[in-house]
Amino acid sequence: MDYKTQVAQALTPVLPELSLEDIEAKVEVPKDSRLGDFALPTFFLAKSRHQAPNLIATELAAAVNQQGFAKVEAAGPYVNFFLDQTATGAEILHTVLENEAYGHNTDGQAGHVTIDMSSPNIAKPMSMGHLRSTVIGNALAEISRANGYQPIKINHLGDWGTQFGKLMSAYKRWGSEAEVKADPINTLVKYYVRFHKEAETDPSLNDEGRAWFKKLEDGDPEATQLWTWFREESLKEFMEIYDMLDIEFDSFNGEAFYNDKMEEVIDLLKEKHLLVPSQGAQVVDLEDEGLNVAMIQRSDGATLYMTRDLAAAIFRKRNYNFVKSLYVVGGEQREHFLQLKAILKKMGYAWSDDIEHISFGLITVGGKKLSTRSGRIILLKDVLNDSIDLARQQIEEKNPDLADKDLVAHEVGTGAVVFHDLMNERIGNFDFNLADVVRFEGDTGPYVQYANARAQSILRKAGMPELDLTTLTLTDPNAWEVEKALGDFPRIVKRAWLEREPSVIAKYALNLARAFNKYYAHSKVLEDDAELNARLALVSAVSQVLTESLHMLGVKAPKEM
Ligand code: ARG
Repeated sequence: MDYKTQVAQALTPVLPELSLEDIEAKVEVPKDSRLGDFALPTFFLAKSRHQAPNLIATELAAAVNQQGFAKVEAAGPYVNFFLDQTATGAEILHTVLENEAYGHNTDGQAGHVTIDMSSPNIAKPMSMGHLRSTVIGNALAEISRANGYQPIKINHLGDWGTQFGKLMSAYKRWGSEAEVKADPINTLVKYYVRFHKEAETDPSLNDEGRAWFKKLEDGDPEATQLWTWFREESLKEFMEIYDMLDIEFDSFNGEAFYNDKMEEVIDLLKEKHLLVPSQGAQVVDLEDEGLNVAMIQRSDGATLYMTRDLAAAIFRKRNYNFVKSLYVVGGEQREHFLQLKAILKKMGYAWSDDIEHISFGLITVGGKKLSTRSGRIILLKDVLNDSIDLARQQIEEKNPDLADKDLVAHEVGTGAVVFHDLMNERIGNFDFNLADVVRFEGDTGPYVQYANARAQSILRKAGMPELDLTTLTLTDPNAWEVEKALGDFPRIVKRAWLEREPSVIAKYALNLARAFNKYYAHSKVLEDDAELNARLALVSAVSQVLTESLHMLGVKAPKEM
């Protein structure tokens, strides 16, 4: 039973003008738990009842059915509800421990959710932005799964477009196979940069680049072979990062995959009379939607990013029959996704409403924006490796005898970067400072991991006993804050999904870890008395929920660190 719902239910008879959901939405959790576990502010009733909020609170507190609560009382304009802490606490522990999937629900009814995530561009380094897309997408996949959906993670690789023609022409002019093999992405970037520089004085290069892309689109063997090679070399480098993060994809169908599906899109658009010529090109007019025109086909017949996204959206609906289709892409592509949805809507696809652009903010380093062009590229692999080194140093100080030091350093180092990224609301910008991210104290991933490792160490010291789920009563008031936090988890999991916001889970995990550390500092968990079993049950439940929270964020929970 959800305790907030219990409060709302108790209030329904005395608030007949409101539905259960409306009441639930009004019920708050007081900041100070001495003011109760839940509270109903009464200001919103003052107008309709022509009464002062304090008086309304007094009347409601007297009229409400107090059964199931330790007490219900008015305090100023609030009706405060106090749960029976020992009974409720025991009930929560029981619910957590009897169910391995505690926190999950079946709301999604196994519906498919496609998640377009990561999607870096071939022959370019993966940026911090792509890292955000990767970890946010991965977390949303796990959060959707916990809400009963079936996520499908799609890496829509940027592996098509005129830039590949330019790259081929650059390679043919100045390239060396050995050089590319030795350091693929950096070398390809170097060719690309040189191409742009020389094209400034010799515009014929651009024509040559376009011609190469045309060859590629027409299936010319040499162009295809070069393209395949560039793509494979780039993917190898991307895979290193995905492996470090232990993130898998269900599909690597990138832009190129839709090459043979473009004609149908153009035909469909023509059929619906949506294509209009504009200076030789074909565009869709979106003025009535307050959006810029979207180019679909260039004058030379080449298709665009948008055309491929239209084909991809239609393919995904047909192939996966999604109930939701998410695109985890930075805020700078806002207009693109508004256009995409608007065009699909005009094409008559009602499911365009199920498409969501999951936007996110920028990461800055030392207050500066990162971009490939400015040369301020931070290589992700370096960030992760530096983070692993910092984690290793701290483990060396704290627990030099730890077995599996390398594995744990890896899990803590990468987990720290991922957690930090997800802890921030996705829409905001944030500054990245590695030293802050890997600290074992404060609002960090390692702090949560450490709380879990501490819980595991207590259980080990106790000899990993079989818990008795019939004696879970804890009279220690310090335990209540922890139990209450445990009880919140199912609601948190729902909220994280409804808001498409992994930070809800990250902040929750921090809270639970903090509550647990406070409890641990005040209580002698391993003392051999009548409540020992219940205390170990609490510790075990904390570890279960912290581990599950971290899992939803794509962060490992080492049992020792
Ligand atoms: N490759 C693009 C970029 O790096 C992101 C692709 C996002 N997904 C999509 N279906 N458009 O900017």
